[in-house]
This record gives sequence, structure tokens and C-alpha cells, in this order.
Amino acid sequence: MRAYIAGIGMHVPEKVMTNADMEKLMDTSDEWITERSGIKERHFAAPGDGPSDLALPAAREALEMANLAPEDIDLIIFSTIAGDYMLPGGGCILNELLNIPGTPALDIRVQCSGFVYGLAVARGFIEAGIYKNILFAASEIQSVALDLRTEGRDTAVLFGDGAGAVVLQPTEDENRGVIATKLHADGRYARDLMVEAPSTRDNPWLTPEILEQNKHKITMNGRNVFKHAITKFPAVIREALEAAGIPKSDVKLVVPHQANLRISEAVANRLDLTMHEVVYSNIHKYGNTTSASIPIALYEAVKEGRVNRGDTLVLAAFGSGFTWGAAVVKW
Ligand code: UT7
Repeated sequence: MRAYIAGIGMHVPEKVMTNADMEKLMDTSDEWITERSGIKERHFAAPGDGPSDLALPAAREALEMANLAPEDIDLIIFSTIAGDYMLPGGGCILNELLNIPGTPALDIRVQCSGFVYGLAVARGFIEAGIYKNILFAASEIQSVALDLRTEGRDTAVLFGDGAGAVVLQPTEDENRGVIATKLHADGRYARDLMVEAPSTRDNPWLTPEILEQNKHKITMNGRNVFKHAITKFPAVIREALEAAGIPKSDVKLVVPHQANLRISEAVANRLDLTMHEVVYSNIHKYGNTTSASIPIALYEAVKEGRVNRGDTLVLAAFGSGFTWGAAVVKW
């Protein structure tokens, strides 16, 4: 028994922030952002919307493709860096929006690697025969945690908001489904990409001083993230392919977490893959949407006809934690 992706959907908020819009907020330039990251624009959520609101249309689209009604869902898995509230998790709010009281909802928080980790969790439940119809949504609102002043420019220009969702179901078809997943974390680098507050290490955990010190905004040691990303991505891709028993030459498309075009190019280079043909990128439109970036990219790759039934795909991620992982999937 394998888990396969029976439906996929995505949603981004309406508001587009171009590099020119970012130039109005801070000392930056379209040229710098494009050259360092490949990003041209990103979407920012409207005040009042939470990650569950972004996830809802993506979830509905994925359910429709899988021919399922919300009532058919056995389990919700919800990946986000920050849910609608500190607690409860965003999965519970998506359960409310889908009007399926009683359906279990599980949040996972492993940042950029959330989609690969969630796929591994869903796969485990399905292969064990515990659940049949799993809705897995990855949704991020990061704009609220960006320091949109010049002081925060190295990080603020990279991130955007968005959501992706998939429905996973069991199949006995040998040529379909999640074949291998490999996951890793290294907490020694936990503080290289973080949002420090509110923190349970502080009591009270939110004070005017904490806000003044900007501890509620994302901080990043960009160079260290870059350095580790370009070695960990290729290593975990090789590891997952080896576990799947599939040669690199059989891979139709690598859909990496859209962290930065330069990282994807370096990964393609190290794996000796042709960037344009084998490694998918849509970061120019959305920026880095953390755990939502893989399902958003996979959705667009499918719609563009770059993924066909039976194709071998590699999904791979690296980010805050540090966490990283890869999945080999037959579409
Ligand atoms: O999911 C994982 C998410 N994180 C990532 O993917 C980030 C990985 N890291 C990176 O992609 C790169 O490290 C960055 C894009 C974040 C930065 O690129 P860099 O080549 O490492 O630049 P830098 O930090 O060394 O900064 C170079 C210069 C500095 O100016 P000086 O000191 O040379 O005068 C910065 O102040 O660029 C300046 N700078 C900017 N200039 C214009 C930093 N941010 C900006 C900006 N606009 N937004």
C-alpha cells in the first residue's frame, strides 16, 4: 500500500507586492533582489486573514480534484510557521472552516521543510492503514513577521504569503505514490533563522520592550543558511533516490522548496541537472512561501503539463531549524 497525491490546490492572497513596492518601504532595489534571489514579486495577506483562510480555497480545490467532500476527510495535517493563533493550531481552524467537527487535526511546525515532513507523516498513516483520506494543507502568513524597514531588508525581500494543499489516498498501483521520504534536523542552527518572540522563556512573554527590540520579526543569518542549503539539498536528494532505488536519470522534475533561485541553481549544478529542464522554479512570482512553496510549485508544474502520470518527481526542502528532507514521488 502506498500513499498517492489524489488532489492538489493552491491559493495566494490578492495583494501583490512587487520589488518596486519594496523599494518604497526600504533602501533596496529590483536589481539587488532579482540578482540575489530571482524574486520579482510576492503576495501579502490582508489584515484579518489567517493561514487557515488562505488554506481553505486550496483545500477545496484539492478535494474537488480528488472527488471528495470535506466530510470524507479522515485527518487534517496542517503545516505552518505560525498558525492563526499561538494556540490552538491552524488545523483546528481549518476544521472549523470546512465544517467537519470531530475530524482530527494535527499541526506540524518544521518551517521550510513542512511539506516534506507532512508528506512523510501522511504516508506513514496511510501505509499503516490508519487513515484513508488525508487533507494536508501548508499555509503561511509571513508578511506580519517581516521587518519592512531598511534594517530588515536582507530578510524582508525574500518572503511571501500563500497556501498549497494536497489530498493523499491509498493505492496499490506500483507506479504511483510516495516511494521514499528522508528527513533531517540540526538544532545547533536553530537561531540562524528564527522568530524569537513571543517566547515561553520570557515571562511575561510579550512586553513593549520585546516589541521595541523587534524580537517578533524574522531574523536570519542568510550566509549560513545559504552555505548549508547548497550542501544539504543535494545530499538528501541523493539519499532519497537511493532509498527509492531510482537512478537520478529517471527523475522527470525536481520541485525544490522555493527558497532562492541561486540556491536552486547551485543544487542543480551540484547534482549535474539542467536547471531549466529538470528543476522547477516559480519563485519570481511568490518569493519564499516556506512550507507552502513546494505544493504551490508542484501545482503550477502540473498545470503547465510538466508533470504527467507515472513521472518520477523529487520534492526537497531545507530551512529554519535547520530542517531538511526529500521525497521521491511517482505522480
Ligand atoms: O528557506 C530558507 C530561507 N532563506 C534563504 O534562502 C536565504 C539564504 N541566503 C541568501 O540567499 C543570501 O544570503 C541573501 C540573499 C539573504 C543575501 O545575499 P548575500 O549575497 O549573502 O548578501 P550579504 O548579506 O552579504 O549582503 C551584501 C550587501 C550588504 O551590503 P554591504 O555590507 O556589502 O555594503 C547588505 O547590506 O547587500 C546589502 N543588502 C541589500 N541591499 C539591497 C542586504 N539586503 C539588501 C537588500 N537590498 N534587500
